[in-house]
Amino acid sequence: MTVTAVAPSPDWPEDALRLNAVCPYYTMFPLDFPLQQLAATPDATRVLDPFCGRGTTLYAARLAGLPSVGIDINPVAAAIAQAKLVQITPGAVVRLARQIFDGGTRGDVPEGEFWQWCYESETLRELVTLREYLLETTTPTAAMLRAILLGILHGPRNKNLPSYLSNQMPRTYASKPAYAVTFWKKRAMEPVRVPVLEVIERRASRLLNAAPLAHGGRVYLGDSVETLSGLRQRFDLVVTSPPYYGMRTYVADQWLRSWFVGGPPEVPYGTHGQIARQPNQEAFTQALAEVWAATARRCYQGARLAIRFGALPSARTNPEEMLLVSLKEAKAGWVVKEVRPAGVPPKRTRQAEQFGKAGSAIDEIDVVAELVGLPH
Ligand SMILES: C[S@@+](CC[C@H](N)C(=O)[O-])C[C@H]1O[C@@H](n2cnc3c(N)ncnc32)[C@H](O)[C@@H]1O
Repeated sequence: MTVTAVAPSPDWPEDALRLNAVCPYYTMFPLDFPLQQLAATPDATRVLDPFCGRGTTLYAARLAGLPSVGIDINPVAAAIAQAKLVQITPGAVVRLARQIFDGGTRGDVPEGEFWQWCYESETLRELVTLREYLLETTTPTAAMLRAILLGILHGPRNKNLPSYLSNQMPRTYASKPAYAVTFWKKRAMEPVRVPVLEVIERRASRLLNAAPLAHGGRVYLGDSVETLSGLRQRFDLVVTSPPYYGMRTYVADQWLRSWFVGGPPEVPYGTHGQIARQPNQEAFTQALAEVWAATARRCYQGARLAIRFGALPSARTNPEEMLLVSLKEAKAGWVVKEVRPAGVPPKRTRQAEQFGKAGSAIDEIDVVAELVGLPH
């Protein structure tokens, strides 16, 4: 699956874009979107994404030579996004993994049929050891190793050298345990031994050998409004995409990756802190308005805010109207300059279609606003 629609250019050869695809993430947007916004804002000095997901905006800022700040309430998103800001050699990542293994086994291996069928026992043992170590470590090398492991945690089985650690599974979302076990049993598909270090080594060199220079910034794990109120920096470009209205499966569909970053070894159905938990459209619009107001308080006059948004057809609503109302309700000085359909990018790179399950009839729109009034 293509994860970015951006065409390699002399400035950004294909291998410089690889790190952006370290791990897929639900409704990630293609790199083109933030790159277009950066191209339209040549004087930008610092970039913000208050719903940063896997950190696509942060990676675009890195390519453009700018520092950036990302905020996300989902620990999986924050872990992937962190790696987009880190400058690390493949050798350093492999050395850390080796050092962890040399320190002996750690952690309790989760029990149950799912785990027995999903990973070969020695592979699972190695995975748990890495998980335990990384839960306690916050160095840049650890951040990169964590993101690489999130990216290889599950995916299809290859005929040749393995690229993923799990038994057959989609790469984009984790199957539910009961479904997965039935699938594997029916096909007598026993998990095979995958040496974790070898897969890390191959993936690290592919992703990092030509990674562009990092230009600083930070990822915060938390609620956007709360986090923004504690920030000191100011921004002149904001590129973001809030959760699409009606889409509530962010956390449950990433349950194996959530486990790896410290969650329980089962599917969590809660939507703690997620803006999508709002009970109705009005509450959702109001919650978005609060984010735009908090964003305005951290922006310079003249700042550009570019938002990609959509709604599931089942939500029976007009996402354009919702977004425009939220900007107005923010009463923060955002003046809408452009509203247009997000367009139809090349097959299967459309944000809402990346995961196959989200439905194909989602209207995605891009809205660009400029900060002209004084923020309240
Ligand atoms: C559409 S996704 C962003 C995808 C991102 N543009 C990318 O390319 O990966 C929306 C993100 O908003 C996050 N989110 C939801 N509620 C939030 C909140 N209250 N504060 C911060 N982030 C939140 C979700 O966890 C999700 O990662």
